[in-house]
Formats: sequence, structure tokens, C-alpha cells
Amino acid sequence: MFFCLTALVSALLFTAVFGIAVETPENTQKRDKPTGIVVSFSNNFVDWKRVSVAYHSFAYIWATAGDEDRNPHLSSHYSGAANAGLVRGAFHVAHPTQSSGAAQADYFLSNGGKWTGDGITLPGALSIGRYWRHNCHGLNTTAMVGWIRDFSDTYHSKVGRHPVISTTADWWNACTGNNADFGSASPLWNFHVPSPNDVLPAGWNDEPSWSSFNTPHLVQFSGDMGGLKRLTTNRTAIM
Ligand SMILES: *[C@@H]1O[C@H](CO)[C@@H](O)[C@H](O)[C@H]1NC(C)=O
Ligand SMILES: *[C@@H]1O[C@H](CO)[C@@H](O)[C@H](O)[C@H]1NC(C)=O
Repeated sequence: MFFCLTALVSALLFTAVFGIAVETPENTQKRDKPTGIVVSFSNNFVDWKRVSVAYHSFAYIWATAGDEDRNPHLSSHYSGAANAGLVRGAFHVAHPTQSSGAAQADYFLSNGGKWTGDGITLPGALSIGRYWRHNCHGLNTTAMVGWIRDFSDTYHSKVGRHPVISTTADWWNACTGNNADFGSASPLWNFHVPSPNDVLPAGWNDEPSWSSFNTPHLVQFSGDMGGLKRLTTNRTAIM
């Protein structure tokens, strides 16, 4: 699932963007469950005007992976998204075997992952899950929870809020041993296929959350625009 974040093709993005019906800006402001896009490794160029014309409200943009890969286009994507009237945030792809959670949080923070309460920036997201054939990356559940806590605490100590956690229920529940400690402070970005028997990662409720369904480059927020906006200004707001 997670390699999807790292291997998206721009063509897919634009096809998806084109496929969405036109609404009025007033509708977008009031709309429940605003949608956004994920900008990944291979999206060097994004036509932000087209994204906003498709009535997307936010973007999550790949910033860093591990401790040596960073997105050289992040700041142009950040300003492109803002100029198109979107709120934006950055995500980090965890490689827990490369270095500590603290080291990777610091790398993320120094390469665009910082949160500031400027009204247009969403909290940074930690994307953690299966990566190619590295299921739990060789870490046992205690070590995995420790790594995530190290990342989360370091992020919190620098910007005053916890990161969004982007994962899947099957990965999270297996590799953290159903750890339920993160749901109260970190909003969830859940990769899942909606179904009546949908299982959530331990510790999270349905809301608030972001969801990526079968199309991993599209994301839906569970609240309304007001809830999304609050995440850009209020450091204690989960919703
Ligand atoms: C989990 O892994 C850590 C680090 O390798 C190790 O110190 C610890 O003993 C392991 N715990 C269990 C229960 O295997
Ligand atoms: C920020 O969010 C918290 C938690 O929801 C809430 O208690 C507080 O009133 C909010 N602050 C502002 C300024 O909206």
C-alpha cells in the first residue's frame, strides 16, 4: 500500500482531477468532507489551477523519506497550493530501520515538515506501513511503538503538536500490537477500502480523519471545511 505514495504518476493525478464535477466556490466552502490530493515522489509538476478548479480543498505533499531523501520541489508545491487557495501539509515516509524516530522527525522538520499556525498549513504527517517487502521493518511491536513515539514526541517538542499518522489498520494493528496510545493526540489518515466491516487502527475513532480509498492520490477529510481550517490554526485541535 505505501509504495503507492512513492510511485504515483502525474498522469493518474490529472485524470482524477479532470474527472471531478464542477461546483461553485460557495459550495466548496460549505461542503462536508472536503477532498484533497497527494503529491508524491514523481509529481514534479502539478497544475495547481486545475486542482483548485476541480474543487479540491487541500494537498498533502511528500517532503521526506528516511533520513536522506527529500523533495526538492516541496516549496514550489507549497506556494502553488497556497496560491490556488488550498491548505497544504507535508508528509514523511518512515524508514524505521534507517535511523531513530527522532532523527527522522528532525530531518522532516528541517526539510519542509514544520507546522506553523498560519491558517494554511496542516500538521505534518508520518506515513508508516508496509514498504515493499518490509512488513514490520524487522522491528518487534515494542520497538515499533518506541520508534513512532520517538518521532511523534520530537515533532511535538519542536512545533507544539503531534503529527498526523498515515497508516492502514492491518499494518498498524499487526506491527504495533494494537497499540492505542496515539489516537488521542494524532489525527488519523487511514488507507483503507470502505466496507461495512471496516476495522480502524487501534486507538482511533472514525472522526476526525483523512481517508484514502482505492485511489491513493485522492484523500477525503471526514469533517467539514471548518474542521479542516481549525487544524491549520489551533494547535490543540484534533478536529
Ligand atoms: C524487541 O526488540 C528490542 C530491540 O531489538 C529488544 O531489545 C527487545 O528485547 C525485543 N522484545 C521482545 C519482547 O522480543
Ligand atoms: C482549540 O481546540 C481546543 C480543542 O478542541 C478547544 O478547546 C479550543 O477552544 C480551541 N481554541 C480555539 C482558539 O479555537
